[in-house]
Amino acid sequence: MSTERVYLVTGAASGIGAATVELLNAQGHRTIGVDLRGTDVEADLGTPAGREALVAGVARATDRVDGVIACAGVGVPSQLSVAVNFFGMVASLELVRPMLAESAAPRAVGIASFAAVHAVDEELVELQLDGDEPAALARATVLAEDPEVAGLIYGSTKRAFAQWIRRAAPTPGWAGAGIPLNCIAPGIVLTPMTTPLLQTKWRDDVRTGVPMPLNGMMAPEIPAHLLAFLASEWNSHICGQVIFVDSGAEVTLRGPATVDGHHHTRSSWAGCQNR
Ligand code: NAI
Repeated sequence: MSTERVYLVTGAASGIGAATVELLNAQGHRTIGVDLRGTDVEADLGTPAGREALVAGVARATDRVDGVIACAGVGVPSQLSVAVNFFGMVASLELVRPMLAESAAPRAVGIASFAAVHAVDEELVELQLDGDEPAALARATVLAEDPEVAGLIYGSTKRAFAQWIRRAAPTPGWAGAGIPLNCIAPGIVLTPMTTPLLQTKWRDDVRTGVPMPLNGMMAPEIPAHLLAFLASEWNSHICGQVIFVDSGAEVTLRGPATVDGHHHTRSSWAGCQNR
């Protein structure tokens, strides 16, 4: 499994996306970067026109895509987060899916966040999952005007994206077409998105809201390696998973009970008892 693969990486100009491009190139693969500027394909994934530009730009750049790695995102408490983190990320996966399906070993992966387990605005989450972009943007605009709740917007975009992954992954269009679809949920990664914020009072919020018993904050190369694995040929059987790479934050806050049984399904091991 060492043949050269072609990867499309959004958010490739900075942070986790840039680290992923560097890693994949070093592994001998070809990457097509997408970002607002400074990459192979320039497209604003927060707008319908930009999403069309993505499709046109990718078609110009390559006749083959083996993996899509959607990283582009913003950390602002406004409707821009909804446009880019949810609708832009879903569009970059969905719009490239027909081309991806032509690959012998297609893979798709996006980035949610540890913030998906923080408090959210349920209405905003539902509007995104309904695919109603105008209504979701309007809801985010209302939230953004109130400093008490503006901070819920980012986590709401990431919760919705993680749930979209779990809804879409087992369907005929993804699993049925042989395309593993998953996402990662990073903790605090030291990138241009976070390093300026860590000089502000946000650092105190991180200290209280993001427990990190395992090795603290991380460099972007850490999630990059996980993304590269999930987009590689070796990942043939992981489906619809939200994989936390978060220094222990999620397990500390939620505990062991999130691995819960499906109450209507008898264990397949039950019949083995007498064998
Ligand atoms: P970053 O700011 O270093 O890189 C994000 C890239 O996305 C930038 O190059 C930016 O130009 C691009 N981008 C933003 N809006 C765009 C648009 N409308 N169209 C096209 N490209 C656009 O940020 P970082 O930290 O690398 O974040 C990457 C992803 O990881 C984001 O989705 C972020 O929400 C997520 N994440 C980051 C964490 C962190 O601690 N840094 C933690 C959890 C998730």
